[in-house]
Amino acid sequence: MAKQRSRYVCRDCGHESLAWSGQCPGCSEWNTLEEVVVTATTAAGAGRSKRRSAAAAPRSIPLRDVAAPAEERLGTGIGELDRVLGGGLVPGSLVLLGGSPGIGKSTITAMALGNLAAAGRDVLYVTGEESAAQVRMRAERLGESALDVPVLAETDLASVAAAIESERPDACVVDSVQTLHSAELSSAPGSVAQVREAANALMEVGKRNGTALILVGHVTKEGAVAGPRVLEHLVDCVLLFEGERERSYRTLRALKNRFGATSELGVFEMREAGLVEVEDPSARFVGEATAASGSVVLCAMEGTRPLLVEVQALVAPTEVVPPRRVANGIDRNRLAMILAVLSRHGGVGVGNADVFVNVAGGVRVDEPGADLAIALAIASAHRGEPLSDREGRPLACFGEVGLTGELRYVAHAERRVAEALKFGLSPVLGPAIREAPSGLEPAATLRAALGTARKRFGTALREAA
Ligand code: TYD
Ligand code: MG
Repeated sequence: MAKQRSRYVCRDCGHESLAWSGQCPGCSEWNTLEEVVVTATTAAGAGRSKRRSAAAAPRSIPLRDVAAPAEERLGTGIGELDRVLGGGLVPGSLVLLGGSPGIGKSTITAMALGNLAAAGRDVLYVTGEESAAQVRMRAERLGESALDVPVLAETDLASVAAAIESERPDACVVDSVQTLHSAELSSAPGSVAQVREAANALMEVGKRNGTALILVGHVTKEGAVAGPRVLEHLVDCVLLFEGERERSYRTLRALKNRFGATSELGVFEMREAGLVEVEDPSARFVGEATAASGSVVLCAMEGTRPLLVEVQALVAPTEVVPPRRVANGIDRNRLAMILAVLSRHGGVGVGNADVFVNVAGGVRVDEPGADLAIALAIASAHRGEPLSDREGRPLACFGEVGLTGELRYVAHAERRVAEALKFGLSPVLGPAIREAPSGLEPAATLRAALGTARKRFGTALREAA
């Protein structure tokens, strides 16, 4: 027979006692003991329940038979954001939007809620960072629908949770999670304990009410400060908003997504009236490409979409030892490797020169397919020789460079070439592949690619011929 008994557990240290007392015997704190009801079973009852347990144990079921309702998604009205999310916000999901200060997190979330409100959804914007008046001023720049968003200026976690519970919005933004404060914890807002507590509590209330939550979080340059990092495992989706604050381009990508791919990239431009989606970033970046020495166009893949970006290099003699290697938008180690292969297998030695490599537009390319573009840009900068065709269009290329100087296959060659051809960039330099698409000028090694680049695009050789 089950018997009910009371235990008293200390809220702070977890000490258990059988009787209540004002002071905890464990940690000597006052008024911290809470009653917990425990159901104990007698020895005979325990034996019976053990025998019963085999029949009453939970049963697993084949995945095929698991009911999976086709989830309806909330379109945010921002195409690039929806694409990165994998087709819109999933009701009841928890999204973490990270980014350095001033990048436009408040802007994009305010725009998304405005669009959702205009589509007849219930939304809520919780601001802990700015006053309601400041949020209104931003909304005025963003247009009519942004002004329809209900705003709550609050930093107390319990109050925010209560507001979500009572308003039950379809989508709610908390800007930012680092400003929330739970009165039950003594640590300061923004500390690991507070941020974790806030995310847990909000996730619970969000899931219960079917509210899609977007938590805004700052990341510093060092990625330090309690914040987004400690929440990554907890949330359904981690979005990172990147770009240089001084530049107008912003990129949005998913680091984690339980409801879609993580390789999608959204490109935005910050304008007077908010963020504007750049639907055809290739056109932008190619249009802005300089075709000067040290500049080539890379046919990159960002998720399911080919993207043409300009890769620039500057090689300048220096007395500094060791010379500087500065990489913007590409991995530093990758640059070091390419420089080594260039000098060993390509006959391009830049040992006593500073090398700067930059992906224009503040875009990051994290794929080995960028190697050849980096190598060609450096070689072109080193020789002071522009690589462009007779009409002045820049050279386009892609391919991975191996340690032995070979040019390696990378995925989606056809789509990369097709994207370049769309902008009249041809031929495209790339690795030798079976069934090469037309428009591809294959090369087996980096040395061969360097030769082809000079022969077909080098102004000096062309004029001499
Ligand atoms: P904000 O969204 O406040 O950044 P975050 O929340 O990530 O800190 O906006 C950042 C910058 O964008 C700010 O310096 C002003 C600029 N901005 C515009 O250029 N146009 C606009 O319409 C808005 C709303 C902001
Ligand atoms: Mg902000």
